Amino acid sequence: MCGIVGYIGNKRATSFLVDGLSKLEYRGYDSAGIAVEKDGKIEVVKHKGRLLNLSNDLEKNPVEGTIGIGHTRWATHGEPSDANSHPHRSSKGDITVVHNGIIENYLGLRKWLKEEGYEFLSQTDTEVIPNLIDFYYEGDLLKAVVKATEKLEGSYALGVICGDDPDKIVAVRKDSPLIIGLGKDETFIASDIPAVISYTRDIYLLEDNEFVLITREGAKVLNSDGENIDKEIYKVTWTAEAAEKGGFDSFMMKEIHEQPKAIRDTLTGKISADKKVVFEDFKLTKEQLEGIDKVYIVACGTAYHAGLIGKVAIEKFAKIPVDVDIASEFRYREPLVTNKTLVITVSQSGETADTLAVLRDSKKAGAKTLAITNVVGSTISREAEHVIYTMAGPEIAVASTKAYTTQVVVMNLIGMYFGQLKGTLTKEAEKELEDALLLIPEKIEELLANKEQIEEVAKILAKEKDVFFLGRGVDFALALEGSLKLKEITYIHSEAYAGGELKHGPIALIEKGTKVIALLTQTRLKEKMISNIVEVKARGAETIGLAYEGDEIDESVFNNIIRIPRILNMVAPVVAAVALQLLAYYTAKEKNFDIDKPRNLAKSVTVE
Ligand code: M6R
Repeated sequence: MCGIVGYIGNKRATSFLVDGLSKLEYRGYDSAGIAVEKDGKIEVVKHKGRLLNLSNDLEKNPVEGTIGIGHTRWATHGEPSDANSHPHRSSKGDITVVHNGIIENYLGLRKWLKEEGYEFLSQTDTEVIPNLIDFYYEGDLLKAVVKATEKLEGSYALGVICGDDPDKIVAVRKDSPLIIGLGKDETFIASDIPAVISYTRDIYLLEDNEFVLITREGAKVLNSDGENIDKEIYKVTWTAEAAEKGGFDSFMMKEIHEQPKAIRDTLTGKISADKKVVFEDFKLTKEQLEGIDKVYIVACGTAYHAGLIGKVAIEKFAKIPVDVDIASEFRYREPLVTNKTLVITVSQSGETADTLAVLRDSKKAGAKTLAITNVVGSTISREAEHVIYTMAGPEIAVASTKAYTTQVVVMNLIGMYFGQLKGTLTKEAEKELEDALLLIPEKIEELLANKEQIEEVAKILAKEKDVFFLGRGVDFALALEGSLKLKEITYIHSEAYAGGELKHGPIALIEKGTKVIALLTQTRLKEKMISNIVEVKARGAETIGLAYEGDEIDESVFNNIIRIPRILNMVAPVVAAVALQLLAYYTAKEKNFDIDKPRNLAKSVTVE
């Protein structure tokens, strides 16, 4: 998400800060700012929009000083604006902070700090941090930061400066990345190595709860008791380009690996201690929900596939009928949208032209509208009546990965929310679902640790011209997504069918050697799927199964089996999707294609 930089040395700080931020642009951002300290005075310059807005301003109005921090913000709390941009300063003193992460308990802290006389100028969660540090400040910045972090819940990487305790930067991380670059007579902080790679290749890779005191003498890494931590220097050997991708060879692979964190961030704050689903910007009463007589989920591409799972979740948990439609179809038919309809639009970018048009038409027809999007401040997020954000962070690869899995998580949460409101979800089902949702990140981590099995299958697929995906229930929705992923980046023709549809036509396509991938995460439907597979096998197909570890399966039916960790059937598509993303990725790699920028495709389709 956001990018952090910091500098102490003999040169003008803004030169590095702007350059370092430009190297973090790939993380996505909607505003940028810097704070520079000179002779105990801190100057802050920040602008909404591209980094160029900031650098143009700094060119016209240079800021002197050799100590500073900088930030590119990717909005999570509050729209992109000058006021919400970082750095943020304490309202009473001059403690100034850049932050990457999410402070979960910011509302409570904000309320308490207001009672203590602090003022707030932004809508961000971050602004509580400088004020909290100021509250604890008694002349020693490091001590105040340590005390403040004890009160913070959530994730953070921080760079902090203070005019009253000058000539130093205090940095710390918890569940958000932060590195220290060790130069000659200069020290850097950054969210990621690309920011500093042209200045130094000697790095401290910080662990959670390590505090760093950076002065002109260098960087000291300390624990929260102020004791020295003997840190090993990591020598960067990658190229600058590889560094941007965090050492992965593509953004897609990086984003596949970011899914555990993206899902944890998406779940954060959405399930209360008493297991109730809470959406910050989407609250209905039981009566309001009962007043809705129709729910449409409308989207394009991968987001549409997430919507198909949303239908199953809402119908299963809340017993409310749902129609799912492709935005470019929905807008040109005559959908029955009235003021009793809820239209849920799903869009990673929040800018897709057809989805936006559906949202606008639905509003005109008087419908209630809810957007699920990944980009705060996007057009769809601004125009919808209610928004739920997926907290996947910027997705750069054209093939959607972490946006999809976080959308599916949100779909389950919506089903759970409606079920709780209507009273259709039993306590047991509620607990089972909550436990399963919270378990997903761990299960994905297990799968990622065992990804070689998928690489082997990809070698087989890479030689194919046509591939078929089969699934039943939510596995059918997943089959559509797995098939799209494979098409997008490998250019292999692939089709997805509901298992039961085979006999109604598609089986005519099966001949000797045809590859068929069968998804078997739906236990109730497993035997039916196996029957389908036996049928295609009898006609010469080579079959690949995707099943739970330890699931008993007649291995003679399959040529290969990909195993995924066991989890509740309803959320299994989230884990299984990661396996299919890896399958597409390794197949494209085997074929030596440009994985991040497949031919003919754009990340955001803002025209019809
Ligand atoms: O930004 P959106 O979610 O609205 O985009 C919708 C589709 O264009 C998108 O999901 C597309 O299908 C992806 N390339 C899939 O990987």
